[in-house]
Amino acid sequence: MNLAMGLCSSLCIVVCPVVQGWLDTGHMLVARMAQTQLEEAHVATLEDILSSWSRDFPGMSSFVSSAVWPDHIKCTNSKAPACLGLPATSLNAFDTWHFVDLDYNPDRVSIDDAQHPYQNPSAVWALRQAMSTFSSSQSTFAVNFMLRMAIHILADLHQPLHAAQGVFNDTRFGDVLGDRGGNLIRIQSPWKELRSLHLFWDAAGGLFLDEWPLVPEVELRQNASEIMRAFPRSSLQELNDTETSCFLRNDCGRVFKKWAIQVHEVAVKFAYHGVRANETVSEEYIAKVRRISKRQLALAGYRLADLLAVVVPFLQISSDRSGLSDRPWSLWTRTDIYTQALVALCSLQFLLLLLLGSLLCKGLRAKHRDRESLLEAEADRFVQLQR
Ligand SMILES: *[C@@H]1O[C@H](CO)[C@@H](O)[C@H](O)[C@H]1NC(C)=O
Ligand SMILES: *[C@@H]1O[C@H](CO)[C@@H](O)[C@H](O)[C@H]1NC(C)=O
Ligand SMILES: *[C@@H]1O[C@H](CO)[C@@H](O)[C@H](O)[C@H]1NC(C)=O
Ligand SMILES: *[C@@H]1O[C@H](CO)[C@@H](O)[C@H](O)[C@H]1NC(C)=O
Repeated sequence: MNLAMGLCSSLCIVVCPVVQGWLDTGHMLVARMAQTQLEEAHVATLEDILSSWSRDFPGMSSFVSSAVWPDHIKCTNSKAPACLGLPATSLNAFDTWHFVDLDYNPDRVSIDDAQHPYQNPSAVWALRQAMSTFSSSQSTFAVNFMLRMAIHILADLHQPLHAAQGVFNDTRFGDVLGDRGGNLIRIQSPWKELRSLHLFWDAAGGLFLDEWPLVPEVELRQNASEIMRAFPRSSLQELNDTETSCFLRNDCGRVFKKWAIQVHEVAVKFAYHGVRANETVSEEYIAKVRRISKRQLALAGYRLADLLAVVVPFLQISSDRSGLSDRPWSLWTRTDIYTQALVALCSLQFLLLLLLGSLLCKGLRAKHRDRESLLEAEADRFVQLQR
């Protein structure tokens, strides 16, 4: 048993991809396309925030390279090839943020039987969370974290198999009660590492296989502009460059949900057609995956740019907290106010006491003087009587 498990996990280290979602090149392409559409000053603002983690995640703190961060923090074993020699970060709490499970059930399998091993929180939920952080947070940490997540998740949401969960009972895919975005559908392809339908789409049909940090910068820039030329804004009918103003009304949930449904439709129309489990993918299918992937990457790039162009002017990172002491700063100021109030109260009390004391003394002295003159008068009278 132990031996079997050991074998299994060592096999997994070799075989199982840690990285899911577009491979690193896909993510960097989306960010690169967005960057060319953003004002330079806005990119500078974002990179200033991202750079605050450059010590912990060297080489992953520029606008483009931060896009791969949410995949690499999943790495739990620095010796696994997929971890690329990085120290294990082992942050798996956010794994479900990368996709949204929308059922595709063409064979009408009883949906109660369908399995949803990874439910919420979904990509749509995570993006909404990011918007509410951006609209009110004054913390560089929080904005940095959600910025990295949003750049990555928005791209993942446009990978068709990140918006679909197939449920089948047919001859093409067999009896599948939830395919985990095509992860459970085995295929053969000219790339030995691309053996599931999901991974095949992550790699854009074998087009973008490079992983960070080996993604060449010059090639990235060329490929990004090539994709934007092939799929200009006007060619993408889903694109609406004013809808990201939803951020100003704190109402983007509706928009993100619409995006997820649009991408789901792409999965239904293209990803699950012209392919069968266990068989080698056809040339035709490969060409289709490449074309649709580039289109989806372009759509994600434009939407990321549109969204950040609305968000960045409203970020309210407070400039410098280094002057504050280690104590929680709200406590610190409150304590200060209490102390000052106490000192003022004590001083007032002291002054009152002083005043009261001097009045009392004055009174006593006057009384004393009266008594003395009385005694003197008495003594005079006594002397006169004696005479
Ligand atoms: C799948 O189809 C077979 C044969 O038609 C049937 O016996 C089986 O119950 C179906 N499974 C589900 C989950 O619907
Ligand atoms: C694909 O192969 C696997 C493992 O050999 C098998 O369990 C599955 O039923 C096959 N699927 C189809 C649709 O033939
Ligand atoms: C650029 O695109 C070519 C295919 O057109 C691909 O082989 C290469 O890996 C891509 N490189 C990057 C960095 O995107
Ligand atoms: C684009 O979005 C805006 C704002 O949400 C909306 O008013 C407009 O009708 C949309 N345009 C199209 C063509 O859907």
